[in-house]
Amino acid sequence: MYKLSTEALLEKAITTPELTHEELVQLLSLPDEQIPQLMAAADTVRQNTVGNAVHLRGIIEFSSYCKQHCAYCGLRADNREIERYRLSPEIILETAQAAVDTGYHTLVLQCGEDMKIAPETIAELTTEIKQMGAAVTLSCGERSYEVYQLWRKAGADRYLIKHETADPALYKSIRPGHTLYERLQCQHWLKELGYQLGSGCMIGLPGQTVDILARDLELMKEMEVEMCGMGPFIPHAQTPLHFGNTGSISMTLKMMAAARIYMPWMMLPATTALVSLHPEGRELALRAGANVIMPNVSPETTRSLYQIYPGKLNHRDSMTDYYNKITALVEAEGRTVGTDLGHSIYTAYHQ
Ligand code: 5AD
Ligand code: SF4
Repeated sequence: MYKLSTEALLEKAITTPELTHEELVQLLSLPDEQIPQLMAAADTVRQNTVGNAVHLRGIIEFSSYCKQHCAYCGLRADNREIERYRLSPEIILETAQAAVDTGYHTLVLQCGEDMKIAPETIAELTTEIKQMGAAVTLSCGERSYEVYQLWRKAGADRYLIKHETADPALYKSIRPGHTLYERLQCQHWLKELGYQLGSGCMIGLPGQTVDILARDLELMKEMEVEMCGMGPFIPHAQTPLHFGNTGSISMTLKMMAAARIYMPWMMLPATTALVSLHPEGRELALRAGANVIMPNVSPETTRSLYQIYPGKLNHRDSMTDYYNKITALVEAEGRTVGTDLGHSIYTAYHQ
């Protein structure tokens, strides 16, 4: 098949998101010295579609208990070496109110698959936080249709459940006992229930190829995903994947830029994993098409315990100081902090 030069491909990418599989692979295979050109193209698309705003979503990691056995994650049930915690509803609401008062317009409630928290409790928390005037994203793993429905009725706007990898065999090996199909079933239910869907994948998993990474992007387009979080894989000593190499920053930036070009409507966060690996990870991500930052607003007492991977970014600032720092960073990049709820533009884009 006829192959475009890098320059011609990037020129095409700015004008149309219709890229073939081969073209995605070509973008993801660019040598490091051409990454700035790819990022510049993504930045142009970002400016032309989602604009200048960077949306801040405060994340509350409210329970580190998890019944799952994901081979990559430090919170897996089999890891007996970490101290687990579960925040009380009172603390969660107090934290959420403080975050709203500080200026956050979205709160993300994230936990492991902790079966000791009743779905009704999460529904009540959702309703209460919505009444504070914030949008609510839930990230509580694989649940039944009925549970997702309960939470949606309680007011949840968005749900974050990454597909992790689009390769069914790789998926099976990193999430033993589960299939990619089950994951996508959850994503279908969430779309059907009217959630804005957040997905994403890890970059640099053992056995992953550029071809699979291109499939990750294609799968997210097929699933009509509204938010996509992509971060480098970081091996954790107390997991079966401890032997793996750390995912590369270059490939992460290429994936983000390609995602922006290929799915211009996307809410694209600078992931904590990227920022944990590179002190200027947020700035780099913002230049590669990102328009979301998810600062950790969890209480200081438990913040360091949510160890999904080693070296996870762990700030010690007060809520206000951290918010001001992030705002200053956003503005230093010539961007502005979003002042609205920061909902997806997916529907408007496709009209
Ligand atoms: N390295 C990078 N990201 C990880 N996640 C879990 N474990 C790791 C790891 N070792 C990400 C997954 C998951 C989210 C909670 O964190 O993408 O969806
Ligand atoms: Fe549990 Fe999520 Fe970690 Fe898997 S990735 S072990 S479901 S917290």
